[in-house]
Amino acid sequence: MSAPNKSYDPVEVEALKPEEIERMRDEALAAFAAAGDLDELAHAKVAHTGGTSPLALANREIGALPPQAKAEAGKRVGQARGQVSKALATRQAELEAERDARVLVEEAVDVTLPYDRTPSGARHPLTTLMERVSDVFVSMGYEVAEGPEVEAEWFNFDALNFVPDHPARQTQDTFFVQGTTADGKVTTGDESGIVLRTHTSPVQARTLIDREPPVYVVCPGRVYRTDELDATHTPVFHQIELLAVDEGLTMADLKGTLDHMVQALFGPDMKTRLRPNFFPFTEPSAEMDMLCYVCRGESVGNPERPCRTCSSEGWIELGGCGMVNPKVLVACGVDPQKYSGFAFGFGIERMLMFRHNVEDMRDMVEGDVRFTRPFGMEI
Ligand code: PHE
Repeated sequence: MSAPNKSYDPVEVEALKPEEIERMRDEALAAFAAAGDLDELAHAKVAHTGGTSPLALANREIGALPPQAKAEAGKRVGQARGQVSKALATRQAELEAERDARVLVEEAVDVTLPYDRTPSGARHPLTTLMERVSDVFVSMGYEVAEGPEVEAEWFNFDALNFVPDHPARQTQDTFFVQGTTADGKVTTGDESGIVLRTHTSPVQARTLIDREPPVYVVCPGRVYRTDELDATHTPVFHQIELLAVDEGLTMADLKGTLDHMVQALFGPDMKTRLRPNFFPFTEPSAEMDMLCYVCRGESVGNPERPCRTCSSEGWIELGGCGMVNPKVLVACGVDPQKYSGFAFGFGIERMLMFRHNVEDMRDMVEGDVRFTRPFGMEI
């Protein structure tokens, strides 16, 4: 083993020259400053402070110097390495702060975004209104009865005392359905005897044939007429039918029942009025109006307070009603000497229109959630 070279001049060791050390340090500082992110800085760290970095290699040379040269060279290299590691720590902190700030922005959660990508649906306002009205009668002890939408002409018209040439039977009002005869012949138009029901009244006849009086039923359902879809007509709409058949029922029972319904739906100060009318299946028959629920009748004769809802007439027409025609009772096997009954029917679309200021019936059938949403999300 050779003895240390006492006459060794540190200046002769290329890697330990002051300008060499400075260059190594400056290269390290420049590399750290140039690192754009923590990955690049990690590479620069290995390159400039790792075991094989120029400064580490220079440091190793010190051991070979004579003692008198070691101190100075050690100080020079140590200072340079100190500056480098300080610069590294500073840049590391800077880049970490930058990353944290970026992560906060990039990974921010917008808590105001909808939490549900497929919002659950809700029932249509026509359905909820129909149920609400039915509930009023159910709470009075009525039962809900239903009948088919594709109906025998006999139930839709004949049983209800419509004469064979009644205009409502004509194809301009009624959708006739194709049928097949026993020998397989396809029947078309009005010879098939099958229609899409034009009202919910055939459920009256079906109920009376099915049940023994006393009968108290409410019949909500879809009905069809050959109308074009426009702001006030739709070929498919909804009605609610009421039928009560019992001993001793009179028009006063009908009136009291109607008053109760409008009070339950529109407020305790509501009332109804009946105007004479004609329906083949009720006798006497009446058109039923309810007090205008907006002006409560106060717009009548009062130009200061006009009412758009009732056109200042004070009343809104709601539907038809009357005492069940004895001919209908007979057709359905009910003894008209023993029993009497009343019936009432009205359109749900119309009620939804004036109850909720819906101006165009097409909104009800188009399925746009912007129309249905304000009615609430009843499931
Ligand atoms: N069915 C009738 C219509 O659709 C309404 C009505 C029902 C009238 C019950 C009287 C009694 O116009």
